[in-house]
Amino acid sequence: MGQLRMNTLIDSFGRRHKDLRVSLTDKCSLRCIYCMPENFSGWQKSDHLLNTNELMSVISAAVSVGIKEIRLTGGEPLLRPDIVDIVSRISALPNAPKLSLTTNGLRLAELARPLKDAGLERINVSLDTLDRDNFKKLTHRDRIDDVFAGLKSARDAGLMPIKINVVLLRGINHKEAPALLKWAMNEGFSMRFIEQMPLDAGGIWDRTTMVTAKETMTSLLPHFELFPVPDRGSSPAEEFYINGTLETVGIIASVTQPFCGACDRLRLTSDGQLRSCLFSLEEMDLRKVLRNPNFTSGEIEDEIAARLYKTIAGKLSGHGINDPTFVQPRRPMSAIGG
Ligand code: 5AD
Ligand code: SF4
Repeated sequence: MGQLRMNTLIDSFGRRHKDLRVSLTDKCSLRCIYCMPENFSGWQKSDHLLNTNELMSVISAAVSVGIKEIRLTGGEPLLRPDIVDIVSRISALPNAPKLSLTTNGLRLAELARPLKDAGLERINVSLDTLDRDNFKKLTHRDRIDDVFAGLKSARDAGLMPIKINVVLLRGINHKEAPALLKWAMNEGFSMRFIEQMPLDAGGIWDRTTMVTAKETMTSLLPHFELFPVPDRGSSPAEEFYINGTLETVGIIASVTQPFCGACDRLRLTSDGQLRSCLFSLEEMDLRKVLRNPNFTSGEIEDEIAARLYKTIAGKLSGHGINDPTFVQPRRPMSAIGG
């Protein structure tokens, strides 16, 4: 590493960026209807996918400029054949960042233990329903048992705390919030309800039918006593203590109460593009830098660090979903990384 680097990524609104979400693939074993249509075909070219070494170059450069937390995402990150290797290499970095992963859980039964042994700290698992038919409706696959088996292995392997991400959709699972929360409390998982965002490849998002955070609260309140947890920090979830215990539930009002003011996140797509926001319309090409044959590995890291600063310098104040001029990004969530 040639250049002296400031190890902080502070944008023009004073937000210090510490969290990098890394999408490892845009492929997925499910077809959640709020994410991609059943017959989705807009996949990235496979030679555009960053390989393990390229990913590690970006991650080390990011850590050297102040990234303290890495979240591995997808598509479905456990479809990467090198997933355990990626986790152990990140964990072995000097100044290793906190490391977590968001998965649909289908391959967790076999991978939870190896991932834990490789240094993974914790996971988020997407599960929107406890009902087999609803699972099929929501994901177009009959795989709910694999998710339950995966969750059990993850708990046995000690990948705790396990957070469950739920997106409620009107007319499908919108009445399941209390049952999901009761189940999560019994199982020792912590639940987060996320408002559906306009990020799906199929363009089905509709503000007027979206289940709001307020509605979710209204459906939980007859069943649970919820007390706001003070000091939310940069967390997108508003957290509530449940029934006077220290267990919490998170409600993420990404659309109706955006939390952009406290955002500390950056995203790397699986084809090596840096984004300052899920909803950015612009990307910074890192793949081109990683594959520049005229650069030494030190020069590559320096240029990536420079592009991280530049991306942060250009970050907008918010996602603008609620502005009349809002334009949905060209790429779906599966390509950007949630
Ligand atoms: N709106 C809200 N959350 C979404 N996710 C995927 N697509 C959307 C969307 N359009 C969630 C998934 C997963 C996480 C990566 O992002 O449920 O848990
Ligand atoms: Fe796959 Fe996640 Fe998209 Fe569902 S939300 S289709 S699990 S990438």
